[in-house]
Amino acid sequence: MEQARTIEALRKACQALRHRFGALALVPTMGALHEGHLALIRAAVGSGAGTLASIFVNPLQFGPNEDLARYPRDETSDLVKLQEAGCHAVWLPDVPTMYPPGEATTVDVAGPAQNWEGALRPGHFRGVATVCAKLFGQVRPDRAYFGEKDWQQLQVVRRMVADLYLPLTVMSVATVRAADGLALSSRNRFLGPEERAVAPRLYAVLQARSAALATGIAAAGALDTARRELAQAGFAVDYIALVDGPTLVPLPNGRSGARLIAAARLGAVRLIDNVSVE
Ligand code: PAJ
Repeated sequence: MEQARTIEALRKACQALRHRFGALALVPTMGALHEGHLALIRAAVGSGAGTLASIFVNPLQFGPNEDLARYPRDETSDLVKLQEAGCHAVWLPDVPTMYPPGEATTVDVAGPAQNWEGALRPGHFRGVATVCAKLFGQVRPDRAYFGEKDWQQLQVVRRMVADLYLPLTVMSVATVRAADGLALSSRNRFLGPEERAVAPRLYAVLQARSAALATGIAAAGALDTARRELAQAGFAVDYIALVDGPTLVPLPNGRSGARLIAAARLGAVRLIDNVSVE
């Protein structure tokens, strides 16, 4: 697996992959890789494209009180996992490469970025959109892969790519979960044993409410029930909402394309998850 740490090395690696595979796929990550990330890699490799993962802990998407300094970093083990998943190349830029002196452009997405994570984490999606735009410009992939785990992020990236006519297709991959239902996340390692035991309740509650909403009942009652159940289990609920999948606009009832999204904290660990409502 080719490792690129400079723009020149990246250009060469991309050129070689394009020559060998015809198409190029990018899988952006912040490292601390788990089976969720590797599902994106496998989907990209399985599509027949030359597959390049990026690992960059993007300071611009962390708020001043967020966990940038303690975000898990483990490059050696990440490289082994990427190699084993069949990834062809990895892009490992440093901060001055992504944000050189004098850089003056950020990307602000309104619409799907405004509520939920966007409201609770001001500037977060500016950071995500900006770094993704830079990665897309550096790599020029035909496809980029994102997880449904971060549903709102996926819609923000889709909106940006559409609005700026960026020449790539955004692909999505279903959320990978532990056997008990907890969505895999780099932050799960910070859950204490008791919190880890409670954490799968988030998905269980979402699933149960999704099934209820699928019968056409009003969202307000179902969301109240979910809030109560999560609070009883020990969660501090940041939000739980029934929204239109692509726009993240709240919906009064379940309907095709609706998504039930939630963020809740267990101690110091913030979990986000979402399910479809059919
Ligand atoms: P990170 O949290 O490392 O996630 C990288 C990609 O893996 C994202 O597309 C995310 O949705 C996906 N992912 C994470 N956990 C997953 C799971 N359990 N199942 C399926 N996919 C999962 O998201 C980011 O990094 C950053 O914001 C980034 C897009 C790289 C921009 O900095």
